[in-house]
Amino acid sequence: MNDASNENSPPARGGDQAQVRVISVTSGKGGVGKTNAVVNMAIAFARAGKRCLVLDADLGLGNIDVLLGLAPQYNVGHVLRGEKAMSDVVVDGPAGIKILPASSGVCELTDLGAGERLAVISHLESYAASEGAFDLMLIDTAAGISGNVLFFNAASREIIIVVTPEPTAITDAYALMKVLLGRHGERSFKLIVNCAKTKKHGLAVYRNICGAADRFLNVSIDYLGCVLQDECVPKAVARQKAVMELFPDSRASACFREVAAAALEHAPPTGIKGGMQLFWRNVVNKGY
Ligand SMILES: Nc1ncnc2c1ncn2[C@@H]1O[C@H](COP(=O)(O)OP(=O)(O)OP(=O)(O)O)[C@@H](O)[C@H]1O
Ligand SMILES: [Mg+2]
Repeated sequence: MNDASNENSPPARGGDQAQVRVISVTSGKGGVGKTNAVVNMAIAFARAGKRCLVLDADLGLGNIDVLLGLAPQYNVGHVLRGEKAMSDVVVDGPAGIKILPASSGVCELTDLGAGERLAVISHLESYAASEGAFDLMLIDTAAGISGNVLFFNAASREIIIVVTPEPTAITDAYALMKVLLGRHGERSFKLIVNCAKTKKHGLAVYRNICGAADRFLNVSIDYLGCVLQDECVPKAVARQKAVMELFPDSRASACFREVAAAALEHAPPTGIKGGMQLFWRNVVNKGY
């Protein structure tokens, strides 16, 4: 366990949790496909042998539990109030993924005293240790530039922005990157273009965003690929299942596998900063 008094210390090399990649999945505009991307990428990661924890950090409706037809009884707020252990709160998702419902506990995370912060860190660390190593933690954020969204993005090591080809989604993605750069110095993003008509179309959207970012923002954007518009996605949503589970041979499922493989390839250098411990220290120690 790292020294909790210094949240800026890099996690210990070689420790289980030190290698966890913490990735927030976010967007400027709502309804562009973040929750579907998180769930289906998590399943793809799990099938590639990665242990994956998903944090549902969206305060609004349409959360992961709804998408997957789960009914979690508790959320991270119960842990903060000392009513439940982390293992009571985390629920099992498809393909062995673990889901931590934060929802109504999210506000409380930003409003803790020093003793409570240490308690939360200790709960999370002992949970992660008892579960063995997680390879990845994916965070499903709400859309927009509200405090909570910026908070989770700034606390994460990696940020994936989901965008659709709609002009409003593109301008809102640009605005989100601008705010994350201006307020938090975030200079590196990954991009998924969802609901593209063709792969060429997805690439054109990426190039469009990159062109504007190159001219007006000093940021780098890695392209993870696109997810094609596919009626199997709303069909799966209606049946409260992940498209990867219900329609594994669909165009969308193939895209999710490709995007997840690209994300695994675009791993940041390890041992510099990051990891689950640092993420949680950022969440509970910093007033983003
Ligand atoms: N590739 C796709 N093809 C067709 N429809 C899609 C695709 N991706 C998402 N959708 C549709 O878009 C809807 C919204 O997706 P999702 O809930 O994942 O978005 P979100 O960004 O998480 O929304 P919110 O901002 O409200 O959290 C889904 O219910 C689904 O029907
Ligand atoms: Mg969502």
